[in-house]
Formats: sequence, C-alpha cells, structure tokens
Amino acid sequence: MGHLSPEVLADARRLVDLYPEPRSALIPICHLAQGQDGWLRPEAIAEIAEIVGVSPAEVLGTASFYDMLRTEETGRYLVSVCTNVACMLQGAYELLDHAEQRLGVKAGGTTEDGMFTLEDAECLAGCDDAPCVQVNHRYVGHLDADGFDALVDDLRLGRRDDEIPRHGVLVRVRRETGLTVSADEVSAERARQREADEAVARQAETGAAGAAKGAGA
Ligand code: FES
Repeated sequence: MGHLSPEVLADARRLVDLYPEPRSALIPICHLAQGQDGWLRPEAIAEIAEIVGVSPAEVLGTASFYDMLRTEETGRYLVSVCTNVACMLQGAYELLDHAEQRLGVKAGGTTEDGMFTLEDAECLAGCDDAPCVQVNHRYVGHLDADGFDALVDDLRLGRRDDEIPRHGVLVRVRRETGLTVSADEVSAERARQREADEAVARQAETGAAGAAKGAGA
C-alpha cells in the first residue's frame, strides 16, 4: 500500500462499496489508477489487488485484456493509427511509416521524452474517416503526413490540451449526481442478500434430505 494517492484510494473504496463483490470494482479502479499515473504501474497493480482481494496476476491478467488499460509505460499522448482494411486502403501504412519517422520510434514504442507512444491499432470504428487516428482515445480525424506533423506540433505546444487531456484521464468533469449509495445501504443490502442465499441453501438441504429419506423408505 502507499502508491495510490489518498484521493484515488478514497474513490477506490467508494467503488468497492457499490458492488456485492469487491473484485467487481477491479476495472473502474484500474481506470482511477491509470488516471493518476497515465498507465498501470506494477505498484498500482499490487495495491489494486489488495483493495479488491485478488492476486496481482489477476489484476494484470484482466487489465492486459482491455485496450484502454495500459500495463506498459505510456507517454502523455497515446497516438493510435488504425491499419485495418478501410484505413489500409486509404494509406494507413504510409501514414504509420511517416509517424514512426517523425516521432523516431517504431509502433509500440515511446519517445524518449515520454511525450508520445505510437501504436498500430485495429479498427477504431471511424472507418468513414480513414485513415483514422486517435490520440488518447479521442478522434483527431483522418490525417495525411502534413496533418500528422501539425498534430504533433500542436500536442507538444499544448494547443490541444482542452480537448485532449494526458493519457489516463477519462473525464475532467466528475459526475456528482446519478448512482450514489451510502456504505450503510450497501451493508444492509449485502446482509439481506446473504439471508436470502442462506434460506435458499437451507431449502435445498431440506429437499435433498427429504428425497433421500423417500428413496430409502
Ligand atoms: S478500418 Fe480503420 S477505423 Fe475502421
């Protein structure tokens, strides 16, 4: 314990309280940790595991399944260039080549200054805008080489900060209304659920005992 900030930890505890099983809060807590660090550091993974009561390997196994959770060091901007069919036909591989040269890293790599991670992405569901590019999961439209260079310049100079926060920040305006529930309400609901489960188990036991008696008669 000790890597996640007190604020993130408090939010994580609130999330755990929302679910019947603490492990159900695993993915939302991963997003919180990623919001703090920009990616899921091993220290964060270990702490999340402790919070939700699973092993670090289970957190890693779950997080690594999802594209939006990054378990490797990630730059401030994750630049995703789609090379799936529609984008490939519109010059995605040429654009990716250009991006590699401009950033000085191969797809999958991160620039030395930690500003950019470049990835070769599968369909980003923006095929009508091929070749499709996203930065931190925000669409930045179809780009040619000049457009890509302008994008990189803008990002470096912070000109797109309003629309593209650093990687890991999902939303900048927190929702304060909607699903809210107190810890007491959650405990009461869990107790009710436990009693109902026990009643069902007792009924099943009684039924099984009756059936066995009938068979033996
Ligand atoms: S094929 Fe590139 S966004 Fe769908």
